[in-house]
Amino acid sequence: MKKFSVWISASLFFILLGCVKHNTAFENKETSIEYRIDSLLALMTIDEKIGQLNQYSVGPNMTGPGNKTGTDSIRYARLLNGQVGSVLNLLGAEETHKLQKLVVENSRLGIPLTFGFDVIHGYRIMYPIPLGESSSWDLDAIERAAAAAARETSAAGVNWTFAPMVDISRDARWGRVMEGAGEDPFLGSRIAEARVKGFQGSNLEYAETIAACAKHFAGYGFVESGKDYNNVYIGKSTLLNTILPPFKAASDAGVATFMNAFNDIDGVPSTANSYLLRDLLKGEWGFKGLVVSDWNSIGEMVNHGTAEDLKEASEQAIKAGTDMDMEGDALINNLKQLVESGAVEEKVIDDAVRRALRVKFELGLFENPYLYCDPDREKQEIGSQKNIEIARDVARKSIVLLKNDGKLLPLNPNKKIGIIGPLAKDKDAPLGNWRAAAVAGSAVSLYEGMSTLSNTTIPYAQGCKLSIGPNTFFQEVVVEQNDRSGFEEAIEVAKNVEVVIMVLGETAYMSGEGRSRSEIGLPGLQLELLKKIFDVNKNVVLVLMNGRPLAIPWEAEHIPAIVETWHLGSEAGNAIADVLTGEYNPSGKLTMTFPRSVGQMPIYYNHKNTGRPPSPGAQVFYTHYIDVDYNPLFPFGYGLSYSSFDYKNLQISNENMSTNDTLIVSIDVENKSETGGEEVVQLYIRDMVASITRPVKELRGFEKVYMEPNEVKTVQFKIAIDDLSFYRANNTYGYEPGKFKVFVGGNSRDVLEDEFMLVED
Ligand code: NOJ
Repeated sequence: MKKFSVWISASLFFILLGCVKHNTAFENKETSIEYRIDSLLALMTIDEKIGQLNQYSVGPNMTGPGNKTGTDSIRYARLLNGQVGSVLNLLGAEETHKLQKLVVENSRLGIPLTFGFDVIHGYRIMYPIPLGESSSWDLDAIERAAAAAARETSAAGVNWTFAPMVDISRDARWGRVMEGAGEDPFLGSRIAEARVKGFQGSNLEYAETIAACAKHFAGYGFVESGKDYNNVYIGKSTLLNTILPPFKAASDAGVATFMNAFNDIDGVPSTANSYLLRDLLKGEWGFKGLVVSDWNSIGEMVNHGTAEDLKEASEQAIKAGTDMDMEGDALINNLKQLVESGAVEEKVIDDAVRRALRVKFELGLFENPYLYCDPDREKQEIGSQKNIEIARDVARKSIVLLKNDGKLLPLNPNKKIGIIGPLAKDKDAPLGNWRAAAVAGSAVSLYEGMSTLSNTTIPYAQGCKLSIGPNTFFQEVVVEQNDRSGFEEAIEVAKNVEVVIMVLGETAYMSGEGRSRSEIGLPGLQLELLKKIFDVNKNVVLVLMNGRPLAIPWEAEHIPAIVETWHLGSEAGNAIADVLTGEYNPSGKLTMTFPRSVGQMPIYYNHKNTGRPPSPGAQVFYTHYIDVDYNPLFPFGYGLSYSSFDYKNLQISNENMSTNDTLIVSIDVENKSETGGEEVVQLYIRDMVASITRPVKELRGFEKVYMEPNEVKTVQFKIAIDDLSFYRANNTYGYEPGKFKVFVGGNSRDVLEDEFMLVED
C-alpha cells in the first residue's frame, strides 16, 4: 500500500513537473521563439490547433457580408475552448481586455487572441487615403503616418492591421484603387516597405507597434473591367514583373502576415493557389509569417466553382498554404475530419498553427496578453495633437497641382474669393472610405480651413448635391440628382467674387470595396454646375476630392487651375487651405495615370510598345482610338508646383556597364522661380531588346529635393544590375545584355534621355 502511494505521489509529481516544465518552456522568454512554438504545439490537441486557425468578426463593426453558419452561442463556446485564434473588428482597450481575459482564463492553454482591424489610413485620426498619400512620394512622411496610426490602434486593443494593400492597379473604375499606391511596382515596393516599417516599427513587441498585413495576394488590382471581386486574367510575366514586386518587398521588409485575395487568376482562386502561397511566398521568399484568408474567401471557392462544399474548399485552401480562415467557418468545421480521414496531413495543420503562434509570440502576447489594452494609454493616444499635426503634414504633401494657368494659385490675398460646391462644407467625404474608428463628419472641411485664414465671411453656395445619397460602409443608396434649384444662388456668388473655388468630386463611399464605377467623370450635376459657373466667372480653381483618378477632359481644357486633393483625412480643409494660399508649395505627383475617358481604361505609363506603336499620320494601322487621343490626360508622375523646374545636363557615368558595375546618372535641376519648392526627380529606364516585350518606361529611382529660388541642384541616381533585371521569357530572374535607355524628368512624359549598353564582364 505504502509502495503504491509512493508510486502515486511520484507519478503525480512527475505529471505536475511535466506540466510545469511544458508551461515553463513556452512561457520562458529566455528561449527562442521557435523553441517556444514547438513546446506549445506539443501540448495542443487537434481541436486547439485548428482553433488557432479560426478568426471571427466580433461586435457591430462588420467589414463584410454577415456570417451565415456560426451562431453566437457556438462562437462563444469556441472562444472559451481555445477554438478561436483571432478576432477582427473588436475595438477599445476595455472591450478587447474583456475578451482576451475570457479566452486566456478559460481556455485550457490560455493562448491569447490577436485582434485585427482594417487600419488602412488611420484609426481615429485619418490620414490621406493611401492612393493620395502615395502622391507625396515622401517615404518618411508615409512611414510616420503609419507609425502614428499604429500608436492609436495599439492603444485601442488592436494589434494587427490588414494593411498595407499593395495591389498594383491600372483601372480607375475599380473602387479599391484608393487603398493602394497606384500603378507602379517600383514605387509601390518602396511604399510597401515604408508602411510595413511604420506599422511594425523596429520591434513588434513594443506596445505601440502592430503587425502589418500585405494584401491581397495576388492580382486583385487586375479584376476584369475594374469590377470588384471579378475574375483576373494575367500572364506569368505580368504576375512576376508587375504584381508581385511590392509583395516581395513587404515580405523582405519583415511584414508579419499576408492576406490572400478574393479573385482567381486564370481559373485558380488565390485562396487555393499553391504556386503563389507555397512555392513562392513560403518557399522561394522564405516567408515565416501567417497567411490569413480574405473575408470568407475559403467559403467563396464554392461560388467560384472549384470546390463542391466547404470541406473541399478547406482542404484546397490549407494544402495550398492559406493558414487562417477569416469569418468563414470553413476550417473550424472541416479540418478535423479531413485530418482523421487522412485527406490532410497533421503536419500541414502544424505548419499553419506555428505561423499563427509565431505572430503572437512576436507581438509579446505570451508575456502580456493585455499589452495592447491599456485604457490610460488609449485616452492619451486617441486623437492626440501629435497625430493631428502628422495628418496635416502628410495631407498637404499628398496634394497634386494639376493645372495653374495664369498663376491663379496661390490665391492673391487681395482678391475676393467665393466657395461653391457640394463638397465645400462636407466634413465627411475627406475622411475617406476606410475610416476605421473615425467619428463621422469629423474632418476639417475646405470651407472651415479657408475660413480660419480669412478675416471675413467667405461667400458660399452648395450649388447641387452629390448623386449618391445617404451612405454607409455597407450600402449604397443611389439617388439620381436632378435638383438644380441651388444653381441660381451659386451663380450669384460666382458673379460677385473675383476668384471661385469649386469643390467637386466623390463622396467617401464612391470608392473603396464594392464601389466600382462604370463612368469616372464628376458624378451627377457637378459638371453642369461647373460649366454654369465658368460662364459667369473664368477665374475658377477646381478643387477635386475623390478616391480614384477621374476622367475630366472638359475641366482640364477650360478650368485654369485644378488641384487634386483626394480624400485627405481629418485635416483635409487645413491642408488644402495651406496649398491654396501658398502657405505650402504643392509637391505631390500622380501615382496613377488620369485618363481622358473611361474607354481608355486600363491606362498606365509602363505599357508595352506593341508591334504598331503610336505613329500619328501613318494611315490608321497603329495602336490608337479613332475618337480619343491615345495619350492620357495627366501622366504618371505628373504634378506642378508654384516653383518651376528646369532639367538639363543629363549624364551617364559610362556608355557601357558591366554586370558588376554601378552607373551614375546625374542631372541638373534648376528652380527657375522666386519661390522655394520641392520637386520629385524621377529616373526611368527602358530595356530596348529582350526575350520578352518590356515596358516603354519603368521607374527605377526618385528623389524629392528642395530648391531655393533660382538654385540649381545636381541629382544623382545609381543604376546597378538589379535595376536592369526582370523575369525573363523562361520565368527566371536576371538580366539580358544590350541597349538600355535612361530617362530623367519631373514626370513620366517630359523627360531627357540618354542610353548605355549592358555588357557581359
Ligand atoms: C475584405 C477586404 O477585401 C479586406 O481587404 C479586409 O481586410 C477584410 N474584408 C476585413 O475587413
